[in-house]
Amino acid sequence: MTTDPAKSIPAFYAGQSIFLTGATGFLGKVFIEKVLRSCPDVREIFLLMRPKKGLNINERLEEILNLPLFDKLRDEQPSNFEKLVPIFGDVTEKGLGLSAADRQMLIERVSIITHGAASVRFNDTLKYAIFANTRATRDICILAQSMKNLKALVYVSTAFANVNNPFIEEKVYPPIADWRKIINVAESLDEHTLNIFTAKYLDYAPNTYIFSKNLAESVIQDYSFSIPCAIVRPSMVLSSIEEPMPGWIDNVYGPIGLFIGGGKGIVRVGYCNKYLNEDVVPVDIVIKAILIVSWKIGLTTFTAGFTFVLNCTNQRPMSHQNVMKLLSTILTEVPFEGIVWTINQTITDNFTLYYILTILLHMLPAMLIDLILNFSGRRPILVRLQRKVYVINRALGYYGCNEWKFSNVNSLALMSSISPDDWNTFSFNYSNCDLKAYAKNCIIGSKKFLLHEDINRLDAARAHRKRVHLFVKMVKSMVSIGVLWLIHKWIYC
Ligand SMILES: NC(=O)c1ccc[n+]([C@@H]2O[C@H](COP(=O)([O-])OP(=O)(O)OC[C@H]3O[C@@H](n4cnc5c(N)ncnc54)[C@H](OP(=O)(O)O)[C@@H]3O)[C@@H](O)[C@H]2O)c1
Repeated sequence: MTTDPAKSIPAFYAGQSIFLTGATGFLGKVFIEKVLRSCPDVREIFLLMRPKKGLNINERLEEILNLPLFDKLRDEQPSNFEKLVPIFGDVTEKGLGLSAADRQMLIERVSIITHGAASVRFNDTLKYAIFANTRATRDICILAQSMKNLKALVYVSTAFANVNNPFIEEKVYPPIADWRKIINVAESLDEHTLNIFTAKYLDYAPNTYIFSKNLAESVIQDYSFSIPCAIVRPSMVLSSIEEPMPGWIDNVYGPIGLFIGGGKGIVRVGYCNKYLNEDVVPVDIVIKAILIVSWKIGLTTFTAGFTFVLNCTNQRPMSHQNVMKLLSTILTEVPFEGIVWTINQTITDNFTLYYILTILLHMLPAMLIDLILNFSGRRPILVRLQRKVYVINRALGYYGCNEWKFSNVNSLALMSSISPDDWNTFSFNYSNCDLKAYAKNCIIGSKKFLLHEDINRLDAARAHRKRVHLFVKMVKSMVSIGVLWLIHKWIYC
């Protein structure tokens, strides 16, 4: 194997010290796994982490490393786990909440930064989103400026950071606002006053998440005069296509939650335009893209003011309608356990129709079932669940009712620069993938990793699906007969 970093990606990462933020998230965990497995000679990965749910950072790391995601690595290269160094920090705090000693260690040792930590909720207050997503990015850049061996800083943005452009090129666009002023406003105004002005500040941004990520891209651009920077923009990230196993997912945010609800027969209405394409990208593809971008930036002579941008978006476009059809077909073969109704989702971008259908098909049945649950002494849950579904549907509706086209010039150039030896391990090209096989793996992955269903119980799930199918047919027939009888009575009596 060559040791020339220009020809070999593992050779480039050999001896490097990586600083990763967002390590405990969906993307972060896949990043850790991929680096330790495919770049085994990396020196160390510093993981910025905060305590959560009663667990300190070491306990959190231990819990993460026990996930099935790490099975392969645990079998093949268990000693590589020792390269992980958790560092206490909180990106909402000024200076990332780092201790002086940790900050100094990072300054001395880090050569590559991947900044993925973010608050990804669409309904955060402006203050919180600016602190977590914009100011944190500034503070990462300030830290990066003092690092002695920095080769590359890659910021994980979003493909939807510049939604005012129908065609999104791989460049940094003028920001919605001046990030310095907005950070200043967020620091000086109280939460209540800031909430009043939020709509005015957001301008064309649909939510505080997009606004704060849009400004963060501008932060990166401004610091690119002193540090080697790049931006990777994934669209909606879904289950892995191949690595370390097909179908890996541990995140229910976004479309996956609605899709599971649909598969269970709970979500029957979707708010999107059925003819537009769904923009999703597998998580392992995004991680490979991030690693290749760091490699490229690390090998390129620094040019002040240049930010390399990569749109990491769908390479196999499919309309919402066809995605639904494909998933429904596969869900007949591989159904979820305990479905409550048949899968039959209506999708529309007409808000009035969506609203009426939500009341008829989501809220009324939920109220009826909750009433029955209440009378039988059990806890009513469905109205609460359907309220959540409504909020998610509305939030995702913005992306489902609009479509953006993305330039892939940089992606293509980058892919072609990967040497044939690294092609199998690092190429993020999946344009020839079998979509049906991917969709099936997504469903199996959701069953295994999100719903913790035993795949050996598939026969029982299929039998249950058939029973529900029959029951629904019976109910529908009875309702039809009842309606016809009422019409008959009304006409002839
Ligand atoms: N997933 C997608 O569909 C998608 C699409 C486009 C772009 N992205 C971008 O990709 C990046 C990673 O997203 P993801 O899907 O992995 O999100 P995620 O699963 O929600 O993970 C977010 C990560 O950020 C960390 N974080 C949040 N607030 C923090 C704080 N105050 N201090 C320290 N760490 C904090 C979280 O730590 P805790 O575990 O402690 O909360 C977690 O590790 C984000 O920048 C996101 O904007 C994601």
